[in-house]
Amino acid sequence: MRVAVLVSGSGSNLQALIDHARSDPVAEIEIVVVIADRRHAGGLDRARAAGIPADVVEWSAFPDRPSFTDAIIASAERAGAEALVLAGFMRVLSSAAVDSFPIINVHPALLPAFPGAHAVREALAHGVKMTGVTVHFVDELVDHGPIIAQEAVPVIEGDTIESLHARIQQVEHRLYPEVIRAFAQGRLSVEGRKVTWKRDG
Ligand code: GRF
Repeated sequence: MRVAVLVSGSGSNLQALIDHARSDPVAEIEIVVVIADRRHAGGLDRARAAGIPADVVEWSAFPDRPSFTDAIIASAERAGAEALVLAGFMRVLSSAAVDSFPIINVHPALLPAFPGAHAVREALAHGVKMTGVTVHFVDELVDHGPIIAQEAVPVIEGDTIESLHARIQQVEHRLYPEVIRAFAQGRLSVEGRKVTWKRDG
C-alpha cells in the first residue's frame, strides 16, 4: 500500500515506519511521500536520508484550514498515496481529508482519556497509574475515530513528562508499524466505532 506520512516534529515514528518497510521483504508498505507542515520538521531529514520524497505544505502559507487541507490532499495525490499516516502531525485537517483518504493516527494516551496536544503532560498531572498508546482511524473530530489498537504503559514513581513519553514512544515504534502493516494487508474492518482484526496469514 502506498502511504503518505505526515509529520510536524522529529519523526521518530516515521523512522520506525521506514525501518519496518525496509525490513519487510514483501514490501507491503511503501512510503511515497513525507509531508510536513513546517520546513524545519526533523522528519523531513529522515525522509531525505531514506530517499523518500519530502514535501513541505506550510500551515502559515494558507489563509484557512480548508485551503491548507486541500494542499495536503493535492501533495498526497500527486505522490499516488492511497492512505495518510499521521506521525506526530500537529495540525487538524478539515473533513475533506477524511473524505479523500483513510487516515490513521497514533496518540500518546489511552483514548478517550487525554485527547489533544498535551496528552502525556495531562496524564501525569492527573495522577493516572496507567496510560499508553492508541492507534485509531481519523474521523471529523480530534483524537476521536474508531480505535484500532491500544497498549498500556504504566506510570512509574518519579516519572517526568520526558521519561514517560520516552517509554510511550518505545511502544509506539513497535505498535504503529504493526497496525499500518495490518491495514495494508486489508486485515482491518470497521463497523461503526468497532475495528476488527482478521488473523495474519
Ligand atoms: C508521538 O508521541 C505521537 O504519539 C504524537 O506525537 C509524537 C510524535 O513523535 N502524536 P515523533 O515526531 O514521531 O517522534
